[in-house]
Amino acid sequence: MARMGLVLRSLIGALALGLIAVATPAAVAQQPSSVNPTAQSVKEQELLKELQRIQGRSSLPDARTRVLEQPAGRDWRHFHQVTFRWIGAIVILGMLAVLILFYLFRGMVRIEGGRSGRTLVRFNAFERFVHWMTATCFIVLALTGLNVTFGKELLTPLIGPEGFASWAQWAKYAHNYLSFPFSIGVVLMFLMWVAWNFPSGTDVRWLKEGGGIVGSSHPPARRFNAGQKLIYWVVVLGGGAAAITGYLLMFPFYATDVTGMQTAQMVHGIVGVLFIAIMLAHIYIGTIGMQGAFEAMGKGEVDVNWARQHHSLWLENETRKGRVGGGSVAPAE
Ligand code: HEM
Repeated sequence: MARMGLVLRSLIGALALGLIAVATPAAVAQQPSSVNPTAQSVKEQELLKELQRIQGRSSLPDARTRVLEQPAGRDWRHFHQVTFRWIGAIVILGMLAVLILFYLFRGMVRIEGGRSGRTLVRFNAFERFVHWMTATCFIVLALTGLNVTFGKELLTPLIGPEGFASWAQWAKYAHNYLSFPFSIGVVLMFLMWVAWNFPSGTDVRWLKEGGGIVGSSHPPARRFNAGQKLIYWVVVLGGGAAAITGYLLMFPFYATDVTGMQTAQMVHGIVGVLFIAIMLAHIYIGTIGMQGAFEAMGKGEVDVNWARQHHSLWLENETRKGRVGGGSVAPAE
């Protein structure tokens, strides 16, 4: 009996040893390093350094959903959390600084000789409606987009984590839903004004002479000068790029894979901050930068002397067509 017990114990011992011998290489193969990925104490960074990716289990058929972190994702996260924030801050604050300095040195561009008291229509009611609808959406999209980039760090100390969470949720709804009227506005602007925005010979002279904003000459221009044409194409192409990449982000994985999503985010963010910086310059010229400009989009009419100074060829044309109100108009320079 004692002998049988000994044999049994030896057999069990041999079996256990055999099992260990079989199991050990597999365990080593699964675990190429000294790090035990299931250990509670393993730090995320240490695990990533050793294994290159963190993978979990998922009941979804797509195996890619099991990858929680991988090298390209970490590069993208670094771009999003560090590089992109620097780009955004430099581009937007840099433009604000340039505009403030420009205003301090140049001041408002005034209507030479003052207002004539006679006006002509510059934008009709539909054009103004489309402009303000798109501009309002743009401002909300800009603020709510910047909230994704900078909001958590800037606002949490002021309104607390819960305050920020509910504001960020509303901001996200606004960014998503206002994208639709914004996209419609960009398409309408493209159709409404494309005929006046092709480059022409007068643009070269206008640019060489600094557009009458830098310097004191008043180069001739048609309905839109070269500066306005540039803004127009920034809106059409920048708005188009923001819309395409934005919808790729809003409807994830319908048309792209993970790499495509990351590229869409990077393009969307960079187009967004450049767009905001350029629009700051547009808003500057339309308000404090140039006397008489705001009325063009405000009430839709401009003073004849303003038109002569900034759009002399357009004024000549409108005068020929009898569209200038009240009194006779001297020919444009
Ligand atoms: C049709 C138009 C647009 C659509 C569909 C759209 C959609 C989106 C989506 C889905 C996101 C990701 C938000 C998130 O991660 O929770 C986003 C982020 C962002 N959007 Fe837009 N957007 C549009 C227009 C704009 C415009 C016009 C601007 C700038 C004026 C802008 C600026 C931004 C910025 C700065 C971010 C944050 C980028 C980041 O830090 O990841 N977007 N947008």
